[in-house]
Amino acid sequence: MTSIEIPRGLSTGEAELYRHLVTHVQFEAVLAEKYDELGQSTTPYVGFLASIIAEDERRHHRLYLLWAETLRGMAEFRDAGIPWLGKEDDPEGIIAATETFLEFERQDVDELKALSKSIKDMRDTTLWGLVLELMRADTEKHIKILTFIRDHAKSTSRGH
Ligand SMILES: [Fe+2]
Ligand SMILES: [Fe+2]
Repeated sequence: MTSIEIPRGLSTGEAELYRHLVTHVQFEAVLAEKYDELGQSTTPYVGFLASIIAEDERRHHRLYLLWAETLRGMAEFRDAGIPWLGKEDDPEGIIAATETFLEFERQDVDELKALSKSIKDMRDTTLWGLVLELMRADTEKHIKILTFIRDHAKSTSRGH
């Protein structure tokens, strides 16, 4: 285990969080490599699915790195990493845009359901059903993100 250099100027709690994040960054990187190994499986479908997970782990790794960078920025009085939550310049425009995207995402959910029905007979012999479920989970994630933005923009427009 390599020693972690904690940025000077963080409070005890922030330093603890920083240590936690940096440790987790290393964990996620190792995990992504392990999934890459599984991705080399001579069984093609296992390799395919493992590479999907490896991709996710790489994204998690990047997010943890950004978060750690945010704390380093706090210690050095500069903005870095994950942006701070702030008031939207154009809350009304953002509310309208997110409503439109939410509409698309809900359509997507319906389409995924219809697709899922049409491949019912292939569920046990192909990855198609699983792939559709994964896309459904992604769509739920997009809805969660859009709802967060919309609600925040709404509270800005109410003057909070
Ligand atoms: Fe992860
Ligand atoms: Fe989406």
